[in-house]
Amino acid sequence: MDDLVDRAAATAQRAGAVSTADPGSDQGSGPGSDQSPDEGPVRLELLPMTAEVNGEGSLAVGGVELLELAERFGTPLFVYDEEHLRARCREAVAAWGDGVAYATKAFLCLAMARLVHEEGMWLDVSTGGELHVALAAGVPAARLVLHGNNKSDGELARALGSGVGRIVVDSFDEIERLARLVPLSSTTTDRRQAVMIRVTPGIEAHTHDFVRTGQEDSKFGFGLASGAAADAVTCVRALPGLDLVGIHAHIGSQVFRVDSFAEEVEVLAGFFAPLGLPELCVGGGLGVPYVATETAPSIAQWAETVHRACRGAGIPADTVITAEPGRSIAASAGITLYRVGTIKELPGLRTYVAVDGGMSDNPRPVLYGSGYEAFLPRAAAAARPKAARVVGKHCESGDIVVADARLPGDVVVGDVVATPVTGAYGYSMASNYNKVPRPAVVFVANGEARVVVRRETDDDLTRLDG
Ligand SMILES: Cc1ncc(COP(=O)(O)O)c(C=O)c1O
Repeated sequence: MDDLVDRAAATAQRAGAVSTADPGSDQGSGPGSDQSPDEGPVRLELLPMTAEVNGEGSLAVGGVELLELAERFGTPLFVYDEEHLRARCREAVAAWGDGVAYATKAFLCLAMARLVHEEGMWLDVSTGGELHVALAAGVPAARLVLHGNNKSDGELARALGSGVGRIVVDSFDEIERLARLVPLSSTTTDRRQAVMIRVTPGIEAHTHDFVRTGQEDSKFGFGLASGAAADAVTCVRALPGLDLVGIHAHIGSQVFRVDSFAEEVEVLAGFFAPLGLPELCVGGGLGVPYVATETAPSIAQWAETVHRACRGAGIPADTVITAEPGRSIAASAGITLYRVGTIKELPGLRTYVAVDGGMSDNPRPVLYGSGYEAFLPRAAAAARPKAARVVGKHCESGDIVVADARLPGDVVVGDVVATPVTGAYGYSMASNYNKVPRPAVVFVANGEARVVVRRETDDDLTRLDG
C-alpha cells in the first residue's frame, strides 16, 4: 500500500491532482466517514499503481492509454493492472508466509489463476467451477483449498481425486460424505485428506449484513458457542481418512477495522490452542477504499495485527497463521471503462448519465448499495464539478453504476467514463441479464495489453439453448 500511495502521490504531483488519504493508520474508515464529497480530480490512491496522467491529462495504466483500450477492445471493458495484482500477491506472501490463499471468488480466469500461483499464493476455491478453472490453469491441486457450505458429492469427489491441499469442512453432512468418499478416491487404504474445520466465532464484523459471516446465526461453519465446532473436531478425528490440520474462520468481507480480526483471534484462541493443531486460518475480508472518503489498512498492517493478537492470546508461536484475501488483492487493480450513450438532464432533480453496461457487469451497487467514483479518462486530472448519477442500460431503476458521481462539466455523449476499484466481485458476479453480453477483460503491463477473457458475442447468448 505504501508503494501504491507513493506512486500515486508522485503521479498526482506531476498531474496537479489531489492526493490526501492517510495511509499510516492501521484502522480504516468505511462508508459513513464524514469527509466532504470530492469535486476535485479522482484521487489517485483509488487507481491501479501504474496509473499515470500524461501531459494532456489523460490516464494510462500499465503504460497504455485507457482511451486507446476502449477504442481497441470496445466497451464495457475490464482493465487490470498486472503489476498491481502481482504487487498485492507479493505483499500477501511477505506478510502471511506460505499458505496464504487468494480467494478466487473475487475474480478468476485462467490468467488470474496462473498469475496468483506464479506469485506464490495458494488459491481458495469455493465451488467445483472455481476448482475446475484453477486446475485448468495448471495450478497444482496441492496448492488449492476447497471451501463451500454445501459441497456436492461430485465436488468433493473431484477435489479428493485431484488431491487438493485442504478441504475446509463446513457441516456434519459433509463429514459423512467425506467418510464415504475418501476411501473411494484412493486405491490404498492409508489415504488421508488434510482438512480444516470452519467455525463461526460469533463476531459481528462491521460490514454489510450480506457479507458478514462470522456471527452464530450463519449458514457457514460450525458454531463455537453451541458446541458444534467441538463436536465436529471429535467427528473428524474419529475418521481415519481425514487428517485434521487446522481451524478456519472468516468473519466477513469489506472489513475496515483490523480490530475486528484481533477480536476474532481472541475468540478463536480458547478453542484453538488446546487442540494442538498446526494451522489457523483467519479467512479473508480486508476492506478496500472504493471512494475518496474511505481508507483501509494495508495487507501488511492486517497481518501484523493478527500475528500480534495471536501472540497475545497464547496461540503457540510455531502455529502456521494464514489468511485468504480476495478483494484486497484484486479490487483496486481493476478499472471498468464504459461509453456514455445518453445524458438526461432532469431540471431540479438530477442528471442521468447512461452507459453501455450496468448491473450485469457490476451488481454490487444494487446488491449492497455500494458506492463508487467515476471519472473521464480523457481528463483524469480535471475537477469534477458536475453531480450526476451514472446508470446502466438494464430495465431496472435500481441499475445504478455510481449513485452520486462527480464528473467534469463538459461530459458528452460518446465519452468514455471509468469507474475505478472494480477488480473484485465485478466480473466474477457478472451476468447476462437482459441478454447483455459480458465484457472483455484485458491485462495491461509494460505498454502491452492482452485479452485474458474475450468479450461475449451475441452467438454466445444462444450457445446453451437446446
Ligand atoms: C471463506 C472466505 N474466504 C475468503 C473470502 C474473501 O474475502 P475478501 O474478498 O473480502 O477478502 C471470502 C469472501 O466471501 C470467504 O467467504
